[in-house]
Amino acid sequence: MSADAPRGFLGQPAGFSTLFFTELWERFSYYGMRAILLLFLVGEVTTGGMGLDDATATAIYGLYTAGVYIMSMPGGWVADRLLGAQGAVLWGGTLIATGHLILAAAGFMDHRALFLLGLGFIVLGTGLLKPNISALVGQLHVRSSGGARDAAFTWFYMAINIGAMAGPIITGWLQQHFGWHIGFLSAAIGMGAGLWWFLRTRALFGTVGLPPAREPAAVARDWRILWIVVAVLALVALLLFTGLLKIAATTLSAHAMKVMLAATGAYFAYLLLFAGLSAAERRRIVVLLVLVMASTLFWAGYEQAGSSLTLFAERNTNRMLGGYEFPAAWFQSVPAIWVLLCAPLLASLWLWLAQKGRDLSVILKFALGLAGMGLGFLVMVGAAKVVSHSLLGATGNAGPMWLVTTYLLHTLGELCLSPVGMSATTQLAPQRFAGQAMGLWFTSLAMGNLLASRLAGSLDGATADGLASYFMLMFQYGAGGAAVLLMLFPLLRRWANLNQAGKDSA
Ligand code: PHE
Repeated sequence: MSADAPRGFLGQPAGFSTLFFTELWERFSYYGMRAILLLFLVGEVTTGGMGLDDATATAIYGLYTAGVYIMSMPGGWVADRLLGAQGAVLWGGTLIATGHLILAAAGFMDHRALFLLGLGFIVLGTGLLKPNISALVGQLHVRSSGGARDAAFTWFYMAINIGAMAGPIITGWLQQHFGWHIGFLSAAIGMGAGLWWFLRTRALFGTVGLPPAREPAAVARDWRILWIVVAVLALVALLLFTGLLKIAATTLSAHAMKVMLAATGAYFAYLLLFAGLSAAERRRIVVLLVLVMASTLFWAGYEQAGSSLTLFAERNTNRMLGGYEFPAAWFQSVPAIWVLLCAPLLASLWLWLAQKGRDLSVILKFALGLAGMGLGFLVMVGAAKVVSHSLLGATGNAGPMWLVTTYLLHTLGELCLSPVGMSATTQLAPQRFAGQAMGLWFTSLAMGNLLASRLAGSLDGATADGLASYFMLMFQYGAGGAAVLLMLFPLLRRWANLNQAGKDSA
């Protein structure tokens, strides 16, 4: 389907509504389940939780949230070579829905190994679905102008955040009233709804996103590779399941961080030293490296929304609304609500600046992103101080506005950094590395998520004073990162030379 196709939902080509609602429901399930995940892991066994200590729970949480993004690399591979984007979304959605169903069953039967298996299904499924559904948005627009394509991605971002807003509210409420397994079940039903919608309306795509036409021999070889990988994964799962293989989550998370850092470092070394790039191209790779590090740092702060900040919401925040104590999970809808409110404002700000000929460079936007992340944690220092100083007082809890303000600053940071981040990554790398550059962007998200959980895990058993100094440290990371970017700005801007990028690599 192309730009000439009849205009439908939101003035977009046919097929867009399929992507819009499928992604909305997928994010509903992802963020809804995520909102209660850590609380379930640390929850008292008597209340049906797993009763893990904070360090182990955050390690599992980190491996899970990093896993969903790192899997987009193989997920892209499978779609490009075997399934096509449509097939990848279909199978991804099926795996995700199955995963959530397994969580619901495991929560019901109090079965730990089964629970981890469910998480594994969701990781694999999201790796298949998330990158490919975004690619489909682009593919519907191969022949459209930049404006129509940008509009498509803006609407798509709205769908993501409508799902991300509704998920925690509904799942959190269900969990509070009917227990963990019903919370997990609502995520399964959400993904099921998305899948049903996708199946019902996928004919609208026509030939977009069908499996690629390739040599049968090459296809057969790739299927073999895929089945071997699946068999190995199944074997590892079986060993873990039966308890023959025992790995502590904290150990695994420490190793995973090292592996991802080493792999990213090696990849950059290869690009700089052995990829046969020109001097100008190499300078842009250095800029790319700085942006990947900045992005990792940003998400390491931002993604504590589901870990340290949720624990703060659960343990240290006053959640009374009238006579009703609302679930801590609800706070995780707040960033999405801020995105929905602030995205149009920031978009018009960028437009206004552009009209005045004062475009902000990518590097400045990244610095703003890190500053927003840091300042958000500075607000949390205040919140933690309230808790530590009012120990003798009536509640000892901080008001809800602290977290709401933190999330506003974090969201403003996200809106500065995230939208330009992906496009800058693909522009800075030479054209022939564009696909891999996209992989790098997802890797920075994965590393950020894992780092976020490792930072949050270091808080195990912290007092309110400990929380205050921890949040202060996070502020320093954000502010320090922003300061470094500002200092490097003149140099990096010259090296990035984004306007020249197309010409050089052509
Ligand atoms: N909130 C975004 C989303 O859920 C976070 C994200 C950004 C994820 C970029 C992947 C890539 O889609």
